[in-house]
Amino acid sequence: MRKICVIGTGYVGLVTGTCLSELGNKVICIDNDTKKIAALKKFKMPIFEEGLLDLVKKNVKNKRLSFSSDIDDGIKSSEVIFIAVGTPPREDGSADLSYVEAVAREIAVNMNSYKLIIDKSTVPVETGNQVELTIQRNLKKDIPFDVASNPEFLREGSAVYDTFNPDRIVIGVKSKRAETILREIYSPIKAPVLVTDIKSAEIIKHASNSFLATKISFINAVANICERAGADITKVAEGMGYDKRIGRAFLNAGIGFGGFCFPKDLEAFSWISRKLGYDFNLLKEVMKINDGQRKLLVKKIEDALWVLKSKVIGVLGLSFKADTDDMRFAPSIDIIKMLQEQGANIKAYDPQSMDKAKEILKDVKYEKTPYAIAKGSDCLVILTEWKEFKNMDLAKIKKLLKHPIIIDGRNIFDPDKMKKLGFVYVGIGIKE
Ligand code: UDX
Repeated sequence: MRKICVIGTGYVGLVTGTCLSELGNKVICIDNDTKKIAALKKFKMPIFEEGLLDLVKKNVKNKRLSFSSDIDDGIKSSEVIFIAVGTPPREDGSADLSYVEAVAREIAVNMNSYKLIIDKSTVPVETGNQVELTIQRNLKKDIPFDVASNPEFLREGSAVYDTFNPDRIVIGVKSKRAETILREIYSPIKAPVLVTDIKSAEIIKHASNSFLATKISFINAVANICERAGADITKVAEGMGYDKRIGRAFLNAGIGFGGFCFPKDLEAFSWISRKLGYDFNLLKEVMKINDGQRKLLVKKIEDALWVLKSKVIGVLGLSFKADTDDMRFAPSIDIIKMLQEQGANIKAYDPQSMDKAKEILKDVKYEKTPYAIAKGSDCLVILTEWKEFKNMDLAKIKKLLKHPIIIDGRNIFDPDKMKKLGFVYVGIGIKE
């Protein structure tokens, strides 16, 4: 059992801290947002993640998990410190590391015994070095410490599951002592442990996310070819996926990726590569293809409805993917704004993200069910692959729509079935 302090209670910090307490450690989660800490103490979660609330309640009750805004106390009373603060994108695409640097300075001034400082946030390569330098410079007394990199590979919507069932655990260390502590912390988890130097661990994270995003843009580019050739991207993806070297996952064509990771990590990886003297042009193309998918969907709606001005467009799904309420970089934002620019009237429904959407997307009529969205709309547009939409009563939807037109940005329906039901069904990369 280790005494652990996790600094930052966002998607990564809160899930990581809670799961580490479930693994038997004594964990204090720190955040400078006192309102967020007060809410957490009342078991009000800032994010929706399957299983998280139960684990928080269980571990707060058995006194293995606590929340505080007192970073000094959190640091002083812990041997292991995870830095899990945000690294948001700056104008030029580089990662804003000011929060990481501030925490590193805070750790230095509160260093009262050996500490292992672990970077959990997604950071560009060489950040570990900078954290070590910052602590060294700001130490008041000559106290030993180690810095490590332990990137997370959590997917939103399955972050708790992914923490306990990772494909691999990556530990970037410079000392045996740091390696031993991290191996012990993760020992209850059955997964391959890869021990590397700190820089390689940092690059593993950026390279993994960038590769996943590349895979998505690749299949979307092939989907555009399928449309022109009259082929079916779902069959192409299936045929590619049988090859173990390719794998079927992340070959789902659609309106592309959103979320706070892929767009941000692509920009940050591209930026740090350029800074290191290598122009990673491939990543620029990955981003360009992704942006193109949003425009493609708007064009498909224009092709179906002709003039968009004053048309009523029913949108199902706003969050960047199913099983999350997260709207960050969601394709729905660009798509709805482009439709509104052409004078379309938008109705929208999402099972979870409407509260957040209302802050971002104005002049939208938000409804409580998919059927209320379909009622009187000129067409229905699917932007997020929620199970709820796949199970809709399509006969009822058809009756409610002004015209039986469905533009499916996530290919959630079977084209033949939709045509048999009498819909004009438009997908991505499938035969019209
Ligand atoms: C991603 C990585 O998967 C995770 O390992 C990393 O730690 C954080 O970033 P996340 O962004 O939560 O996780 O979601 P993910 O499931 O990867 O989907 C990202 C985006 O890609 C979503 O917008 C999703 O709709 C889209 N996507 C995913 C596709 O368009 N096609 C696919 O085949 C898969």
